[in-house]
Parts: sequence; structure tokens; C-alpha cells
Amino acid sequence: MKILLVKCHPRIDSLTFKVSESFKKGLLEANNDVEELDLYRTDFNPILFHEDEPTNGKLSSYSKIVQSEFSRLKENDAVVMIFPLWWWSMPALLKGWIDRVWNYGLTYEPQKHNIKKALIITLAAASDKEIKKFKYDDALEITLNRGMLKFCEIPDSQICILGGTNLGEKHCSKLIRKAHNIGVNF
Ligand SMILES: Cc1cc2nc3c(=O)[nH]c(=O)nc-3n(C[C@H](O)[C@H](O)[C@H](O)COP(=O)(O)O)c2cc1C
Repeated sequence: MKILLVKCHPRIDSLTFKVSESFKKGLLEANNDVEELDLYRTDFNPILFHEDEPTNGKLSSYSKIVQSEFSRLKENDAVVMIFPLWWWSMPALLKGWIDRVWNYGLTYEPQKHNIKKALIITLAAASDKEIKKFKYDDALEITLNRGMLKFCEIPDSQICILGGTNLGEKHCSKLIRKAHNIGVNF
């Protein structure tokens, strides 16, 4: 499978990046092709301006950068986004990439991408127990999976929350291994 791996973290020495590397290793071991997009190491502007709100929804009406980013969604079979959970949502840079590229007439009404499978891997300081207790997992399921991935007609989509990133090295190593396993079985 051709997989677009979108990473969003300011630090390349972050746990998010370690999880991403381990996940990618798993994907490659299972003979997938991986295209990486490291959003912080590009000059992508996350702010949606007038030019990226054409009323006709035609690809050619969008800015060149949106056309070029959208071609990634046309050329890959799957998309995986990996990021730290910030205020129970995604970092603004990734949100802006979605706002501008996952746009009207491109990913919905009608959808023209070729993505058949999507996965969001997000790292949270909150423990699995806290996440369940306050139903944060349900909230993310509704907003990110139902409200975004399924809204854009991706047939197979899931959210994976890797919780407890403050629980020390042993727990973090477990999360890194888990990511590898998810990659192998993707
Ligand atoms: C701006 C900001 C907002 C955060 N919001 C949350 C949050 O809503 N829930 C949570 O569990 N952790 C939150 N965290 C903690 C991050 O999820 C945590 O730093 C991350 O999981 C650790 O991985 P990293 O070392 O790759 O950043 C937040 C961290 C930052 C910097």
C-alpha cells in the first residue's frame, strides 16, 4: 500500500517522532511504500485565506500549494497522521493543513481523493484511565473520525490514542513498541 505519513511536532527529538519512526519501520517491514510529510520542516502556511475558498470547488481554482498538497491524497492509498494531543485536538499547523487541503470539492462534496484507509495516532499525557473516565476517546472519535475522516468518505478509518506519555521511560518504550506493531499490521 502507498501510505502518506503526516508528522506534526516542532521537535524532531520528541516522543512523537520516536513513535513515528517505529511505526514507519513497521510499515516498511510489511512492504508498504511510505511518503513522509514533516509539516514543521516545510514552509506550509496553515492559515486559510480567501484564495482557498473558491465557490466552485474546482481543483484548478485553489492555490498552487493546495493543488500540490492535494496531489499527495490522490497519489496515496492511505493516510496516517501522527501528532501530540494539544487541548484535546491537533496542533494548529496540522489543523491548517486539513482546513486548506481537505477542502470543498476535493475531499468532500464530492470527494476526489484516493484514500481508502486512514489512521490518526495521537500522543496524550493523560493516562488511558483518565481518557476513558472523561470520555475523551469518544470525543475524538466523534470530531476527528466521524466528523473528518468518515465525512470525507474514507471507508476504513480509526483513531489510536497513545496515553500516559508522562508516565516515564518504561511506559514510553511500550508506546514505541505498540506503534511498531500497529505499523506491521496496518
Ligand atoms: C500546547 C499543549 C497542549 C496539550 N494538551 C494536552 C491535552 O489536551 N491532553 C493531554 O492529554 N495532553 C496534552 N498535552 C501534553 C502532550 O500531549 C504531551 O506533551 C505529548 O503527549 C508528549 O509527547 P511529545 O514529547 O512528543 O510532545 C499538551 C501539551 C502541549 C504542549
